[in-house]
Amino acid sequence: GSLLPVFSQDEVTKHRSLEDGVWVTYKGGVYDITEFVAMHPGGNKILLAAGGALEPFWALYAVHDQEHVLEILSEYKVGELCEEDLKKQQASKPSDPFSSDPERHPVLQVNTLKPFNAEPPPEILSDSYITPSAFFFKRNHLPVPQLDQASYRLQVEGLPQGVLSLSLEDLKTKFPKHTVTVTLQCAGNRRGDMNKVKPVKGLNWGVAAIGNAKWSGARLRDVLLAAGFEPGVAQWARHVQFEGLDKDVTGTSYGASIPLNKAIGEEGDVLLAYEMNGEDIPRDHGYPVRVVVPGVVGARNVKWLGKIVVSAEESSSHWQQQDYKGFAPGTDWNQVDFESAPAIQELPVQSAITVPADGAVIHHSDETLTVAGYAWSGGGREVIRVDVSLDGGKTWQVAQLRSGDKGQAPEPSPPPGRAWAWKLWEITAPLPPEAEELEIICKAVDSSYNVQPDTVPPIWNLRGLLSNAWHRVTVRLRR
Ligand code: HEM
Ligand code: MTE
Repeated sequence: GSLLPVFSQDEVTKHRSLEDGVWVTYKGGVYDITEFVAMHPGGNKILLAAGGALEPFWALYAVHDQEHVLEILSEYKVGELCEEDLKKQQASKPSDPFSSDPERHPVLQVNTLKPFNAEPPPEILSDSYITPSAFFFKRNHLPVPQLDQASYRLQVEGLPQGVLSLSLEDLKTKFPKHTVTVTLQCAGNRRGDMNKVKPVKGLNWGVAAIGNAKWSGARLRDVLLAAGFEPGVAQWARHVQFEGLDKDVTGTSYGASIPLNKAIGEEGDVLLAYEMNGEDIPRDHGYPVRVVVPGVVGARNVKWLGKIVVSAEESSSHWQQQDYKGFAPGTDWNQVDFESAPAIQELPVQSAITVPADGAVIHHSDETLTVAGYAWSGGGREVIRVDVSLDGGKTWQVAQLRSGDKGQAPEPSPPPGRAWAWKLWEITAPLPPEAEELEIICKAVDSSYNVQPDTVPPIWNLRGLLSNAWHRVTVRLRR
């Protein structure tokens, strides 16, 4: 027995604007969310559900599949939907927009299924210098679009010469093919460490939202030149925007932009990639074409690329304007001003321990302990050193770095300022005879002598981005 009034769907439907009030239904409950609209972290999109059911929209945005979201909703309950209309609603189940997503490798640790977000176990990540595509982290905001290589077209817009439309065949045959080894890292990699300090909003990534692949394709620079870009033309241009072919319920695509100088520079190495590790790019990673922006945060590496726009402005996309920005540790959700913060582009220096796992039990019959991990920095800055401590930071040893698999020839050293790929590192050290527990720490130094901050609190931010404090794992020793 609820004491709340019962409403018909017709009554709910009357409330679909801020003037008339915004009502929605969820699992048979009726909610007046008028006041919440302005506070919604996902912005104005919430109005799309006004006067109707939340379920078809929440099916697309798994971010709502959390207890705290339901708690917010419950505050706005005003009644129940009448039985008859609820039955009608349930009879017209929305089709699952994710039903054509590709198969994924079972070893991936799933963060959310719809959209699909997953990372490999850390010890698998450091097994190979080139991350196999099946193990490469996947970060999707929307369903994976179904694209056909024969009808695929890439539009290049914004230059005085007009629109250039390229087929996949054009990209492959009209431009030289370049192959670059590039590490991609999500801005949210290691968010889990920030969550431990104070809860943040976002997927709770471990240390493996990063991977290193060989990408092949046409240079963005070559395509922009073919579209009519040349020095003196388009002097107003400052940015290059990218639009994906993955769409949300409103038909809005994923989008992002990068500075023009990165896009056009001879040393930027930005690719319109159609191969990953020597094969067609897998669907999860952007088939048939994605942008690869070396040294720059994953979010700008737009997958399922449909459009390139040379422009005076950054992308107006939610992900360029309202997300993927850094803030001070004291900034909370009431004060945060996304407009005044610059979008993240180049990432800071990073490293993490992949072996042993946090909480592992090490048997003392082994007299030495091997610690392994990865290290990388944004902006083409090369990692020049990784320091490892087995005693919580009292003493440090320098790890061995490699740019290839063990027993294989390393990749040739990159030109200065163009170190786009990570280094794997390893150290084997005697186990301290007395200790029962070890705090193992790693920290990397890049070619600008940037170092990682030692602790999380001074870099904590409400979105949990840019989490690059010294990485620490604790292991127990057993005799
Ligand atoms: C994010 C609540 C309806 C789209 C969120 C978050 C909350 C929330 C609490 C942040 C979750 C987190 O990051 O932990 C609600 C409530 C709704 C509602 C209470 C209904 C009363 C909708 C609708 C849509 C939508 C109808 C789409 C049409 C989004 C999107 C985000 C989001 C895209 C992600 C924003 C981001 O990651 O920056 N919502 N939401 N929401 N919501 Fe909603
Ligand atoms: N491009 C499109 N079109 N849609 C997306 O959801 N996610 C971005 C970026 N490009 C995304 C996208 C983010 S946040 C990251 S970290 C990388 O893709 C992840 O690339 P991956 O899934 O190939 O690892």
